[in-house]
Amino acid sequence: MKTQVAIIGGGPSGLLLSQLLHRSGIESVVLERKTKDHVLGRIRAGVLEQGLVRLMEEAGCADRLHAEGYVHDGTLISYGEEMFRIDFTEHTGTPVIVYGQTEVTRDLYAAREAAGGLIEYEVEDVVIHGADTDAPHVTYTQHGEPRRIDCDFIAGCDGFHGVSRRTIPPELRREYEKVYPFGWLGILSETPPVNHELIYANSERGFALCSMRNEALSRYYIQCSLSDRPEDWTDEAFWQELKRRLPAAQAEQLVTGPSIEKSIAPLRSFVTEPMRWGRLFLCGDAAHIVPPTGAKGLNTAASDVHYLHRGLREHYATGSSEGIDSYSEKALSRVWKAERFSWWFSSLMHRYPDQGPFDLKMQVAELDFLRSNRAAQKAMAENYVGLPY
Ligand code: APR
Ligand code: PHB
Repeated sequence: MKTQVAIIGGGPSGLLLSQLLHRSGIESVVLERKTKDHVLGRIRAGVLEQGLVRLMEEAGCADRLHAEGYVHDGTLISYGEEMFRIDFTEHTGTPVIVYGQTEVTRDLYAAREAAGGLIEYEVEDVVIHGADTDAPHVTYTQHGEPRRIDCDFIAGCDGFHGVSRRTIPPELRREYEKVYPFGWLGILSETPPVNHELIYANSERGFALCSMRNEALSRYYIQCSLSDRPEDWTDEAFWQELKRRLPAAQAEQLVTGPSIEKSIAPLRSFVTEPMRWGRLFLCGDAAHIVPPTGAKGLNTAASDVHYLHRGLREHYATGSSEGIDSYSEKALSRVWKAERFSWWFSSLMHRYPDQGPFDLKMQVAELDFLRSNRAAQKAMAENYVGLPY
């Protein structure tokens, strides 16, 4: 098989890139390890920056997102019994859209299928060959049958555990990592959200987050120990702990119910540099990971895809390699700003085992400053709604 761009990974990064390339008349093939149902079964964050919304519009996939997504003009931040609001729209003129990542992925699958896009599911043994040559190719097996794709370029959109990053010779890669000493225990419940906007809570018992998918589907998280397992937590224990971490007024309003999904996610900050080797380009989680505190995972994958799509479009339209040659530098510049915001917001809102009394005083002072200073709120709002591409 031959194509212009071989895309490894059928998550949001790979699908969005494939659809944008298609809209620019550029052929691609997506290689996905799992089944479509498995990919759509993943529960992920659901806060979309305007940049991603615009890319979905450019991809012709934004109708449902505009019809069903929730416009959020701000978020609440609580610490102990104190609570204040960051008004995104007042400070930046821009809201965020709350719309599950699963739905983004569903819309992208629908668009690729409608356009006759080729997605190879349940592929195995993917190997990238000749990425540092002018004639790269990818081999893989599918249901035991060997396959090969000859291509012009390869997009590594295969997430943190994929093969793409590891294809770049270790001596050419620089990796930066911070593993956080806690996890997030998350549940999905068919209950009305406790508040129409998100609540990020810093409490002496640890972090909590109140989010939602729609008026009848809520998403809650509490910071937990890395040694915890989901089965260690009954629903009742979760609800009681969540209530202890919210201001009393919000805790009283919390509608509880059976969890329909319960899982624990570890938190990590990670970046690999460069995001390009020859004709291989890394996008999204294949190149970087953020703690979910700032909801930057999908949104930073989106800006990678934007830069790569524009570079490839320019290459095929004019022969220029300027866009693809500047891809890694441009993408990393925005990646590191997202890493910083996600690390900063995580440091502000969580309890760390090694925190002493002074550290806790610094957290409260930072929250007091954020609460009372418009410049601080504007800075937070600009990072949360998404820095410019
Ligand atoms: N071959 C083919 N496909 C692979 C391989 C492989 N060797 N390894 C992984 N994959 C697939 C995975 O099954 C997954 O569907 O690549 C896809 C990668 O998707 P994501 O992990 O969702 O990464 P990305 O598309 O970059 O999306 C980033 O997803 O993980 C969240 O928080 C993250 O919101 C962010 C978003
Ligand atoms: C979610 O709704 O799952 C969510 C929202 C905001 C975050 C993280 C997760 O910062």
